[in-house]
Amino acid sequence: MGKDVIIACDFNSKNEVLNFLDLFKEEKPFLKIGMELYYAEGPEIVRQIKKRGHKIFLDLKLHDIPNTVMKAMKVLSNLDVDMCNLHASGSIKMMEAALQGLTRQDGTRPLLIAVTQLTSTSEEVMQNELLINKPLDEVVMQYAENAKIAGLDGVVCSPLEARKVKNKCGENFITVTPGVRFADGEVGDQVRVTTPAKAKELGSDYIVVGRPITKAENPVEAYRRCVREFCLGINE
Ligand code: C5P
Repeated sequence: MGKDVIIACDFNSKNEVLNFLDLFKEEKPFLKIGMELYYAEGPEIVRQIKKRGHKIFLDLKLHDIPNTVMKAMKVLSNLDVDMCNLHASGSIKMMEAALQGLTRQDGTRPLLIAVTQLTSTSEEVMQNELLINKPLDEVVMQYAENAKIAGLDGVVCSPLEARKVKNKCGENFITVTPGVRFADGEVGDQVRVTTPAKAKELGSDYIVVGRPITKAENPVEAYRRCVREFCLGINE
């Protein structure tokens, strides 16, 4: 399983994202396209970026009845993305339907990753609004296990949870982890952060890095630093 750095392309227009990608002359980074860019520009932006040779994690977090998710996933797999995701809270049946929809006729498919509990949901909100009367980390682990049972490839989680997820679901169960910051960088609105080197040590397979790269003075150099720290374990 390849360790890789995924750049979160949190831009809201085609021009902005293409200008950003033009900075990369030598590398073709793995990119995350989220709702903002996808809803602004539609599937054409995915095709266009794919044509430039990038791998794409399409972060649309599907959650609906199994049949609808299955059909939507079929459309996404035809878009030729490399990774996509859904909410584990949609049930094991929904996740199984998603996998079915995602699998192409030749048996290949993008990686499918589950969101467990959003990191914006506190234990208090989960218990008092959603009426899930369990500790938050127990719910996260149960949802990860449900994703594993449904046949998914892994989960999005904090690097701080990656080891626990792997202990529960196996070493090959992928952990995709945002919340990454350089040791000397700004934290912004992220709360529980780790450096790329620490994320590697904790067992993350993919780190998702947005602003430390997109807002850097030199984004290409910031990306290279992430790769050195995360893929090679060099602490800077
Ligand atoms: O700019 P930054 O590095 O904080 O970007 C992290 C990316 O990962 C953003 O696209 C954010 O929406 C996403 N993300 C996150 N925390 C989660 C799930 C997704 O930061 N729990």
